[in-house]
Amino acid sequence: MTILVTGSAGFIGANFVLDWLSEHDEPVVSLDKLTYAGNRQNLGSLVNDQRHLFVQGDIGDSDLVTELLSTHKPRAVLNFAAESHVDRSIHGPEDFIQTNIVGTFRLLEAVRTHWSQLGETEKAQFRFLHVSTDEVYGSLGPTDPAFSEQNKYEPNSPYSASKAASDHLVRAYHHTYGLPVLTTNCSNNYGPYHFPEKLIPLIIHNALVGKPLPIYGDGQQIRDWLYVKDHCCAIRRVLEAGELGETYNVGGWNEKANIDVVHTLCDILDEEQPRTDGRTYRDQIAFVKDRPGHDRRYAIDATRLERELGWKPAETFETGIRKTVRWYLSNQDWVTNVTSGAYREWVGKQYA
Ligand code: NAD
Ligand code: TYD
Repeated sequence: MTILVTGSAGFIGANFVLDWLSEHDEPVVSLDKLTYAGNRQNLGSLVNDQRHLFVQGDIGDSDLVTELLSTHKPRAVLNFAAESHVDRSIHGPEDFIQTNIVGTFRLLEAVRTHWSQLGETEKAQFRFLHVSTDEVYGSLGPTDPAFSEQNKYEPNSPYSASKAASDHLVRAYHHTYGLPVLTTNCSNNYGPYHFPEKLIPLIIHNALVGKPLPIYGDGQQIRDWLYVKDHCCAIRRVLEAGELGETYNVGGWNEKANIDVVHTLCDILDEEQPRTDGRTYRDQIAFVKDRPGHDRRYAIDATRLERELGWKPAETFETGIRKTVRWYLSNQDWVTNVTSGAYREWVGKQYA
C-alpha cells in the first residue's frame, strides 16, 4: 500500500511525511510544486529512502496526477498543498484562487475518476483527506465559545475564502459522487521547518539577526497554537478512523495573544542564546501597521476529535515552543537557505 501526499515539501506536509515514515513502512509518493514555500531540503533525510518518491508538480496538473494515481495506486490522497500565508493573499490573491480552489478542484476530479474505476474493496478502503484551517470560520469575539464543527463558514481573507471554497468542493464531492473524503480544520501550527514569513519563525529569525520584531496593531489578536507534530498525529488518526464525509477540528486549547507569544519567544531566546550586549530581545519589539481585515481571535474546540477518535496533543505550548526555538537555533543553515533571494523581496514589500 502507498499514500500520496501533496504539498509535502512545505511546513506541515514535510513534518507529516517525516513522521509517517518514522512510524510506518508504508511508502509515500510526494507531489509538490516547490513554490517559494516548498523546500526539498525539508525532506533531505529521505533522499536515499526507498519508501519515498518525490515528484515536482502541480495538483492542478490533471495529467500528472492521473498518471501518479494509476502508477502508484495509493490507498489514500492527503492534500496539504496550498498557498498558505494571509499577508501574501492580501498582496496577491490570484495564486490562492489557482491553487487552493482550481487546484483542489482538479485534484478532486482526477481522484474521482481514478476512484470510480477501482474494484469494490479498494473503493471502500480509499480515502481523500483534505487539510484545512480554522480560519474558514472567521473571527471570534472575546467571550464567544471556540469554533466547533457546527460553526458556519465566515472567511475574511482571500486565503481563508479560498480554503473555505476548497472545503466546500471536498464536501460536495462526497455528497454528490460518494467520494470517501475527510476534512480537518486545524488551528495555527508551529514547529520545525516553519517558513519564516509566519509569526513564530519570523520573530525567532529577526531576533537572532538583530532586526525589529514586528507586531501588527496592538498585538492583542489571539491565535490557538498547536505543535505541528500533534497536528500530524491528528491527521493520521482521522485517516485511520474518521467518519466519511465528516470534518474534524484540530487544536490544543492554547489561546495566546500575539504579544504574549512574542514575549515568550524573547524570554526563551534570552536564556538559550542571550544577546551579546546583555540586553533582552524584548527591546527589539516594534509595533507596526495592522494587517487589513485582521481577524481578532481564533479558538478551536477539539472535543469531537478527542471524544470520538481519542486524540490528545502530546505537547503543551510551553514544551512545544521551547523545542521549536531549540530547533531553529540548531538549524541555522536551513534558515539561511530559505531566507535568501525571494524571501528578502517579500520582507522588503511587507515591512517596508
Ligand atoms: P506551506 O505554505 O508551508 O506549504 C505549502 C506547500 O504546498 C509548499 O511546499 C508548496 O510548494 C506546495 N504547493 C503550493 N501550491 C502547490 C500546487 N499548486 N501544487 C502542488 N504543491 C503546491 O503551508 P503549510 O503551513 O505547510 O500548510 C499546509 C496545509 O495546512 C495548507 O493547506 C494550509 O491551509 C493548512 N493549514 C496550515 C496551518 C498553519 O498554521 N500553517 C494551520 C491549519 C491548516
Ligand atoms: P501568521 O503566522 O501569519 O498566521 P495567521 O495569520 O494565519 O494566523 O500570523 C499569526 C498572527 O501574528 C496574526 O494575528 C498576525 C500576527 N503577525 C504579526 O503581528 N506580525 C507579523 O510580522 C506576522 C507575520 C504576523
